[in-house]
Amino acid sequence: MIYKVGIITASDKGYAGTRNDLSGPAIEEIIVKSKRFQVDKMTILPDEQDMLADMMRKMADEDHLDLILTTGGTGFSKRDVTPEATLEVMERRAPGIPEAMRSISFQITPRAMLSRAEAGIRGGTLIINLPGSPKAIRETLEYLLPSAEHGLDILKGNDAECARP
Ligand code: MTE
Repeated sequence: MIYKVGIITASDKGYAGTRNDLSGPAIEEIIVKSKRFQVDKMTILPDEQDMLADMMRKMADEDHLDLILTTGGTGFSKRDVTPEATLEVMERRAPGIPEAMRSISFQITPRAMLSRAEAGIRGGTLIINLPGSPKAIRETLEYLLPSAEHGLDILKGNDAECARP
């Protein structure tokens, strides 16, 4: 089964057209190379909690996407509200995913501690916040994608067992 992916770039400047979004395409590039995922929707929104939460609800409840990947808005700037939008829509937290992301990122930069990224489940959809820069996306997404795939297999009932013989 191929899992459908939605990509949301949270960026005031990207939305206004004053900055080229390189982060959404960086995610797309990694997803395209994977065998079990395909990009279904890609959008840029401003750093507005309501708009981000509404888009996540739409992608999960109406478009029935399996995985929503956000990029941007997870830092300390006053406009960074992607984790808050994600917490608003998720029904169950999946803290191990951002823990793993920060853990691998600590090997690259201590500033990984400034990431407020969240991950969680809404219905049959897994939502994961990625950092904002294409560099940080490349450093984290390839690492977490195989485990996200396994998590989705379990969520969807495609693989009931975690244990290997
Ligand atoms: N993670 C990795 N792997 N590589 C990075 O360069 N940058 C950090 C952190 N996580 C970084 C990283 C920095 S500097 C910040 S401020 C936070 O991610 C949040 O970034 P965002 O606001 O662009 O989402």
